Amino acid sequence: MQQTREVWGSKLGFILAAAGSAIGLGNIWKFPYITGENGGASFVLVYLICIAVIGLPVLIAEILIGRTTQRNPVGAFYKLSHSKFWAAVGGMGVVAGFLILSFYAIIAGWSIGYIVEAINGNFFRWPEPVAAADHFNSLVTDLPWIFGYFAFFMVLTMIIVFSGVQKGIERASKIMMPILFILLIILMIRGLTLDGAAKGLDFLWNPDWSKITAGTVLLALGHAFFTLSLGMGAMLTYGSYMSEKDSIPGAALQIVILDTLIALIAGTAIFTSVFAVGLDPNAGPGLIFHTLPGVFTKMPGGYFFSILFFIALTIAALTSSISLLEVVVAYFVDELNWKRHNAAIILSAIIFSLGVPSVLSFNVLADFKIFGLDFFGLVDFLASNILLPLGGLFIAVFVAWVWGFDKVIPNLRKGAEKFIDHHPIMSGAWKIFLKYLSPVLIFLVFLYSIGILQDIFNLF
Ligand code: PFF
Repeated sequence: MQQTREVWGSKLGFILAAAGSAIGLGNIWKFPYITGENGGASFVLVYLICIAVIGLPVLIAEILIGRTTQRNPVGAFYKLSHSKFWAAVGGMGVVAGFLILSFYAIIAGWSIGYIVEAINGNFFRWPEPVAAADHFNSLVTDLPWIFGYFAFFMVLTMIIVFSGVQKGIERASKIMMPILFILLIILMIRGLTLDGAAKGLDFLWNPDWSKITAGTVLLALGHAFFTLSLGMGAMLTYGSYMSEKDSIPGAALQIVILDTLIALIAGTAIFTSVFAVGLDPNAGPGLIFHTLPGVFTKMPGGYFFSILFFIALTIAALTSSISLLEVVVAYFVDELNWKRHNAAIILSAIIFSLGVPSVLSFNVLADFKIFGLDFFGLVDFLASNILLPLGGLFIAVFVAWVWGFDKVIPNLRKGAEKFIDHHPIMSGAWKIFLKYLSPVLIFLVFLYSIGILQDIFNLF
């Protein structure tokens, strides 16, 4: 028998929780470094277009499937289609949740470890990027360090999900999201008031159109998916606790705006600082853990700001990781009738075990490669480059072609009657984007992600 299903306590609670899921390592760690590697402002513009044209429509679709069915991804697709194929598509989301959390929590663990490094003043001992990178390597090859913080972060995630939708996820988001905003705004103001900040702003805001290639567009589109937590049922699951009195388009727009704003604020904070001290913005994934610690040592008040920065990064990661665990927990609770408490504990332990080979790929198993990737890279690739775009593709196709707009629109109208009735152009655009544009573009991202299109582009 179904247990009574939990619901959000308020609309604000839902928006903060969903924005918390969206805002994470993707915004503060990944967005700045891929922007740095891909020419700055021109990449940002393409990214903004992708968010508006694909991200927002798919986000609305995902939340809608959840709210209409009040189920986890597997149950939701099954309820609407009665087809095992579509239930399996939902299952893909649950698998992606396991996989993504198993490596996401490792990086989040480093972030906690770096709060301690910052407090201990260790960045001042290794201020140059090369030395800082060596220090980073010495930490990730230290097994108690890397396992300890990984486990600690998983326990934090587990406690919040264990405590339930309202008492855990919603309450944690309501406390942590305002703190995150304040911390990032403080860091942005610090960056903007450094001598030489203008060069960083120029990098982030002055587009160089020659840097835009088909590859950049697809990279931006792929990131739009990751940053909005789309394609694996996280937004679907959060939507399943939403009331029919609230407007989905309105909520989705607010989530997208918050996510984008935070990426831009984090980008501004980071690039103004990196340029002000004359370092390279193009450091790739090491930007946050190799370059930034050194940047803090060269700015007034750097000790203090370095602590704030890694606290912000950890909070952002935590509000995302709880949504990943919630997808998995919701499936076991809804479909297999597990108790939430047991599900949270057992599934966190399984995810931790799944992360063990990924942790080892930074040290003991560093030379062990499958298809040229270490275990961490492989899990990341499988989840982010294959499961998420495929999931997004299926969600768009499902809503537009299988469920059908004649059934979809009456459900979408609930809570948004005025908006839908008074803005037929908006719902018309949503239908067209979802039916044609999203599937085609997402399919291209998928081909690009698995390397097929990359080879073709490289020919030109
Ligand atoms: N949106 C998160 C980020 O930008 O870090 C990552 C993420 C969370 C992806 C939850 C998918 C997900 F279901």
